[in-house]
Amino acid sequence: MSISKDTTDKVKERMDIEEVIGDYLPLKRKGQNLWANCPFHGEKTPSFSISPAKQIYKCFGCGKAGDPIQFIMDIEGVGFQEAVKHIAGRYGIEVEEDEARTPEQNQAQNERESLLIALGYARDFFVKNLQTEEGKSIGLSYFKERGFSPGIIEKFDLGYALDGWDNLLKSAKSAGFQEEVLLKAGLILQKEGDASRVYDRFRNRVIFTIHNISGKPLGFGARILTKDKNQPKYINSPETPVYHKSDVLYGMYQAKKSIREKDNCFLVEGYTDVISLHLSGIENVVASSGTSLTDGQIKLIKRFTNQVTVLYDGDAAGIKASLRGIDLLLEGGLNVKAVVFPEGEDPDSYSRKVGSQAFQEYLDSNSRDFIGFKINLFKDEFKRDPIRKAEVIREVVQSIGKIPDPIIRSVYVKEASGLLEIEEEIIHAELNKSLLKTQKEQYNKQVKEAESETAFEDLMATEQSSATSFGELLKIQEREMVRILVNYGTQKLADEEMHLCQYLLSETEELEFTTPIYAKILQLYREALVKGELPTSAYFIGLGDREVQMEVIDLITMRHEVSSHWEGTHQIIINKENDDLTLTGYKSILRLKRKMVQKLMEEAKVKLRDAEGEQDNEEKVNEYQVLYFELKKVQLEIDKELGIVIG
Ligand code: CTP
Ligand code: MN
Repeated sequence: MSISKDTTDKVKERMDIEEVIGDYLPLKRKGQNLWANCPFHGEKTPSFSISPAKQIYKCFGCGKAGDPIQFIMDIEGVGFQEAVKHIAGRYGIEVEEDEARTPEQNQAQNERESLLIALGYARDFFVKNLQTEEGKSIGLSYFKERGFSPGIIEKFDLGYALDGWDNLLKSAKSAGFQEEVLLKAGLILQKEGDASRVYDRFRNRVIFTIHNISGKPLGFGARILTKDKNQPKYINSPETPVYHKSDVLYGMYQAKKSIREKDNCFLVEGYTDVISLHLSGIENVVASSGTSLTDGQIKLIKRFTNQVTVLYDGDAAGIKASLRGIDLLLEGGLNVKAVVFPEGEDPDSYSRKVGSQAFQEYLDSNSRDFIGFKINLFKDEFKRDPIRKAEVIREVVQSIGKIPDPIIRSVYVKEASGLLEIEEEIIHAELNKSLLKTQKEQYNKQVKEAESETAFEDLMATEQSSATSFGELLKIQEREMVRILVNYGTQKLADEEMHLCQYLLSETEELEFTTPIYAKILQLYREALVKGELPTSAYFIGLGDREVQMEVIDLITMRHEVSSHWEGTHQIIINKENDDLTLTGYKSILRLKRKMVQKLMEEAKVKLRDAEGEQDNEEKVNEYQVLYFELKKVQLEIDKELGIVIG
């Protein structure tokens, strides 16, 4: 079934880009637009812009752009239908589905979507199992024993996988899911040596559902209930097309609101740590699920806060082994604090031991910035051993060197100097050495980032000067034409009954656009006019044609939003072209025609040369010469009209 057009229209009418994207990213207002760090590529200065007026987003770094529906498609990795449903849900719009699905619609439902649906089914299945006799007596009683409340069990979609080889498999198949989908979703396994035999991956275990940030299940962690040492404690979903472990943090869906409010994210190791902290009233917590942090996970955190507090089990060897994680966080530009629990305790055990009040107080009074934390960790060692102390200094300096902000770096140098009882100058000298070492690496990275960011700024400038072929120049003129059309096409011409688009389209009727995308937009424009519509840029953006959408967004953002230092100059240009649309349109047509004439001249020249090379071809040579000069005359006329002085 597919969503009715009526529902889609309602959603389009109601959705607001600021609200839809605001659910995912903190937005800062700057002028007319809102800005954020782009969620689709790593960056430290925001180049992701949102225009509430135009209801579009565009990243000047990586080029991603679209309307609110496209944003949901991109960020959730779902198709159009799912994205519309998602936004409908956000605004409480009831979703009507059309009765029958056309084959194309079934096709449009992509693989990701079908995996997500299967995973949702599995989640429901595991959750329901908890209410069966077996589930109650084994799964539920286990959770109760650990102090998990019914509210928490529901909040985290905790569940139970029944004892047996094919409980989920059978149920899912009878609900219409294909084995292939269940396999790809990581829910079932093929028997070794006999791929035709499949069975449930999760059996006889309690289930922790792993969600994406909008609450859709991506996978599961399944904990064993016995003390059987021959079995792994957890069985986890594998990497799948929807579950990229390096981009997911357990608990982020339940934590994101609180992380933003508290402007801090607690980082723990395991599923049960996350849940125990929630039970203690701390909701801004996520787990790395026992592995070391990845860049993707750090990016995810940075969408909500710049402050991370890492909670460590009280086991010194374990902490030292995981210190690299701190460096990664620092490199990502995050402020890092750490809390260590007493020997033998982890966040889960300790919170249950002392109760939520004392636990929260413990966090408050024991959280240290990473420098103090790191130095403290090695204190006992270097007190007795000066060589070891030199090593620790280097170690600490290396971490400080990871911090991108030089001011924050110098604050930490001061602190390290105090704690290590060593002069600041020495630490600075050491820091400079370390910075130099990594400089080349960082430089290369920055150059890459900068290249992609300035590419857009320079687009207009360089294009005019560096485009060499006629094809390219023609393309620029065609684009200019279409740009004026989508920006101002619906405006009335001064003192006339005519809209600019009617004028432009009638003037270009006999011109054949050579750039497919501009030809396409022109065609769509004509079709819309025939249907009695006056299409604005929003019309093209909402058509559901990705290529057209991207291009039109480019066309309506390229000039005055390309960069702030262009704003001044271009605002003037825009106003001018707005003031006298007839003239602007006319000039644009002339320029386009000029380019087309030039293209024809080039072609004539090539043919002329070919003809001259052949024998007995005087007639043809003559013909092309005449054609060439005719074209030249036309060009001169256009030039005169355009006021171009020919030297
Ligand atoms: N983990 C895993 N596979 C294992 C062991 C651990 O995937 N065989 C991951 C899980 O994500 C787990 C985390 O590492 O949550 C931390 O491991 P551990 O502390 O052993 O598990 P807890 O979740 O704390 O479980 P419990 O409190 O029941 O010991
Ligand atoms: Mn544990």
